[in-house]
Amino acid sequence: MLNYILNGVIFMADKRIFSGVQPSGSIHIGNYLGAIKQFVDNQNQYESIFSIVDLHAITVWQEPEELINSTHNVLALFIASGLSIEKNIIFKQSAVVEHTQLSWVLGCTARMGWLNRMTQFKDKAGKNKENASIGLYTYPILMAADILLYSATHVPVGDDQKQHLELARDIANKFNTDYKKDFFLLPQPIFNKNSTRVMSLRDGSNKMSKSDISEYSRILMTDNNDIITKKIKKAKTDSLKMPDTIKDAESRLEINNLINIYSASSGIDKQLVIDDFALKDIIDFKKSLTEVIIEVVEPIALEANKLINDKKYLEVILKEGAEQAREISSKKISDLYSIIGMI
Ligand code: AMP
Ligand code: TRP
Repeated sequence: MLNYILNGVIFMADKRIFSGVQPSGSIHIGNYLGAIKQFVDNQNQYESIFSIVDLHAITVWQEPEELINSTHNVLALFIASGLSIEKNIIFKQSAVVEHTQLSWVLGCTARMGWLNRMTQFKDKAGKNKENASIGLYTYPILMAADILLYSATHVPVGDDQKQHLELARDIANKFNTDYKKDFFLLPQPIFNKNSTRVMSLRDGSNKMSKSDISEYSRILMTDNNDIITKKIKKAKTDSLKMPDTIKDAESRLEINNLINIYSASSGIDKQLVIDDFALKDIIDFKKSLTEVIIEVVEPIALEANKLINDKKYLEVILKEGAEQAREISSKKISDLYSIIGMI
């Protein structure tokens, strides 16, 4: 396999990771376990590019001041979680104009019928579809552009993005067929086994989400230990003993979610977690779960809260990241324009 060196680090050249996180609220443990932890775990092997996707965030209303704060918040959490700013390219989506340029072209490749199938649009638009922004509807095209612009081979995401990834592949494939060129690579998702869909602490049938009205539905990566303890204490469960088989666990939504969070946070296999707590009281399990979560969140929260105050430092990282990203994206757009007859 052909390897190469970037900023003194050896990467395997056959794999490039791209992923994005929206600056649309505070990062929770679902974002961390489903996505950010995977970014960190993979960064030593593969060239990685991460974007704070502010253009995606404005598909629903964002207060301008809050958008900037959230952008800094995501960046601070990336770094505090262990993402290296030397090894990886980290940038803000709106600072690289090529995302919107490619998005337009891909919008002419994608079919209405494909977009009409996107379940996330249906969930987010809710009953009042006529009043949703056009951006919310075309959002998956911009996401395809993010990925295809960098010829990413792998995309670490939570399971809620699976359908969008399939759409990105369909768009890439149609473009390549239409123009008879192998121009876009077909990206693969990477999921994290036990945390690909972390559920709400208040309702095991809904995913943990930044926009849930109940703060008790999620653990934020900036929560302090007292708040984490309270949220886990209040987390909804049934009143039985702990399950003693995976099958039993999986038939109990809320408990299954807490066991998955335990396993993903501690790195202990789910079967072992179940064996350890089999038939014990839920309250004892909750105490251990709180400790395991604090072990993950506390150092990240402390570091992130420090970094967030250093806006200048964060802005320098974003500026440098955008410059590095543009080295790749501008070349891709110039090749694209030449293929479609615009240069
Ligand atoms: P977002 O906040 O929507 O930009 O999501 C950022 C990343 O976190 C994406 O890869 C999502 O798939 C992932 N993610 C969001 N919510 C969850 C969740 N509840 N469980 C697992 N992954 C999630
Ligand atoms: N749509 C993703 C989410 O809501 C965020 C995102 C935008 C993304 N562009 C991306 C994720 C490209 C992976 C790759 O979570």
